[in-house]
Amino acid sequence: MAIIITDECINCGACEPECPNNAIYEGGAEWRFADGTGVKGMFKGKNSGIEANAEDPQTPVSMDLYFIVSDKCTECVGFHDEPQCAAVCPVDCCIKDDGNVENEEELLKKKNHYTYNIEFMKLQFITILSVLAIFAFSCKSKKEGSSTTPAVDAYLPGDSQLKAIQVKFADATAATLKEGYDVYMGPCTNCHGKKNMYKHSEADWQKDVNRMAPKAKITDAQKDALWKYVLSMRLAKGTPAN
Ligand code: HEC
Ligand code: SF4
Ligand code: SF4
Repeated sequence: MAIIITDECINCGACEPECPNNAIYEGGAEWRFADGTGVKGMFKGKNSGIEANAEDPQTPVSMDLYFIVSDKCTECVGFHDEPQCAAVCPVDCCIKDDGNVENEEELLKKKNHYTYNIEFMKLQFITILSVLAIFAFSCKSKKEGSSTTPAVDAYLPGDSQLKAIQVKFADATAATLKEGYDVYMGPCTNCHGKKNMYKHSEADWQKDVNRMAPKAKITDAQKDALWKYVLSMRLAKGTPAN
């Protein structure tokens, strides 16, 4: 549960410097996900659903009283054993926000999100890759001698994907899908692992492809191929559009 400041606030300012998440702002102040946190790049607020670049200024929650950005408040979980703002407030107006109920685990996740940065994620991804490579290698050596079946790449588009996409885009070819696959496996994994193509709605995926294309620095043709590839995989698997 996030903490909220009620309209009994007397603007004394005592709470603001106490917040370990930089979630408290003076009335009328623009706030940013990045202020005092490790957040970088595009970010989505857990509570508000606001999606923005972490550096972009956001509209003040209150124009005349101190306010708490619930997306940033972890109820001090991960830092202190009680909400620091509530502990220092002289008029006891920092109270639990019934509109944003969260358990300890969720709050901790929220906190870790803030201390996460992409470099760290990249490092983690590389570690996972090398573990996977070692694993794949050991499986291979174990299998040798017995009759080996080549590993099937579940992401590789085939005939069923081609048939499915040609219903929507008659001009799509196997080469289009292969190009999309290469983008998906290549530039699209520079910052994070492979995203689940079967999660989210078709519209969300299209939005994400548009949003991510500049990040991955791909050409319009590559973006087009990527979209057709993702869609073909979904269609062939029978993923509902919504
Ligand atoms: C420069 C780094 C970077 C590159 C390259 C990149 N992404 Fe992302 N992507 C992010 C970050 C950061 C987020 C989380 C914040 C957000 O959703 O904007 C994200 C979120 C997503 C999401 C959101 C939903 C989810 O399940 O988490 C999808 C889908 C996605 N990326 C797909 C792609 C695809 C496809 C490509 C290749 C075109 C790509 N990304 C390339 C940084 C990147
Ligand atoms: S409870 Fe802690 S994290 Fe939340 S606003 Fe107060 S001081 Fe900041
Ligand atoms: S400590 Fe309490 S009264 Fe003072 S600014 Fe913060 S919320 Fe308002």
